Amino acid sequence: MNAPLRYTREQLLSSHAYVQPHEAAGYRLHGGFVGDGSYVSPRTLVRWPAVRAWGEALQQRGWPLIDASSRLLEREGYPTFEQHELLLKHGLGQALWNSLTVTGIIEGRGQNLCNAVAPDLQPLVVEPLAETAVGHLNEGLFYAHGADEGGDPANPVLGAHDKMWFAARDLVFGKNAYPLVEAPASISREVDGREMPQLPEGLEQLFRMLMNVLMIEVRAESFFALCCRLFRDPELFRDRREDAELAAVMVERIRADEASHVGYLQVVVSELRSFTWRVGEKFVPGTEIIDPVWAKMVEWHGRTQRELAADRTRKEIEEQVVAAKGVAKGRLILTELDALDTHAPA
Ligand SMILES: [Fe+2]
Ligand SMILES: [Fe+2]
Repeated sequence: MNAPLRYTREQLLSSHAYVQPHEAAGYRLHGGFVGDGSYVSPRTLVRWPAVRAWGEALQQRGWPLIDASSRLLEREGYPTFEQHELLLKHGLGQALWNSLTVTGIIEGRGQNLCNAVAPDLQPLVVEPLAETAVGHLNEGLFYAHGADEGGDPANPVLGAHDKMWFAARDLVFGKNAYPLVEAPASISREVDGREMPQLPEGLEQLFRMLMNVLMIEVRAESFFALCCRLFRDPELFRDRREDAELAAVMVERIRADEASHVGYLQVVVSELRSFTWRVGEKFVPGTEIIDPVWAKMVEWHGRTQRELAADRTRKEIEEQVVAAKGVAKGRLILTELDALDTHAPA
């Protein structure tokens, strides 16, 4: 028998029966531990099986799931593992500290998704939506995502990803090791003008937001891997190895939570491209509307944005290195840093 495809908001927001709450590094956090001692993400008791069921139903209708893996990232993030390792060995942790701070701030902003509302799409779509992920965006999918990122507004006692990143940062560096930085106003691909003129403008904005968030989640995945590797490097954070291990565990728990976000957004974007859209008197395949914009999103987040960020970060690191080590020593470190750059022009 096929898994059910219709769920209530209450079901999609329900959590496992935790035998132990999630407390770490002095914080009360979301999620918890089940009988076998493993960590289980919040609000995933029904949400995860539901996302899988919608994905399978889509494939049974003959549509693939779009790729939402790190294979989409054409360029590696900057600094790379080796570059961070070099900086940290010279006692230069500010670049990593800043990345962790900015990541925590941006995660916190994700709480806005709790208030996101999709309009009724059924009048615009030929296929029935009641048994799709798209049909459940307002039935807890947006809310659960927002609560995972920045905390559940209905239960503000429990910290979410913002707190978890700050905790991880403070575990490896110690509190107030460097000044706090501000996060950029937006990390999305923003464009002037229309890219899906077949759709009402508000809907285009919503779909672009979903695609941006999906690519931001994909980018985050590569940052998780980098952090775990750095925190677990026995050569680094030598005077606080135990705390660094706990920081890596924290990042792994965030990573586990994020998987459900990639999961439902992957299904949602795949569904949007599978639908037949009513555009005035005509019927337009979703692939025509969605695919060109998705391709631009992948290109921008996977390459363009990373190149821009690498240039910006390189300049910031230069200032940090010179301020900490002086010009002569600083230049030597920067030469080493650039020699490790796999993307620098020959
Ligand atoms: Fe998150
Ligand atoms: Fe997320």
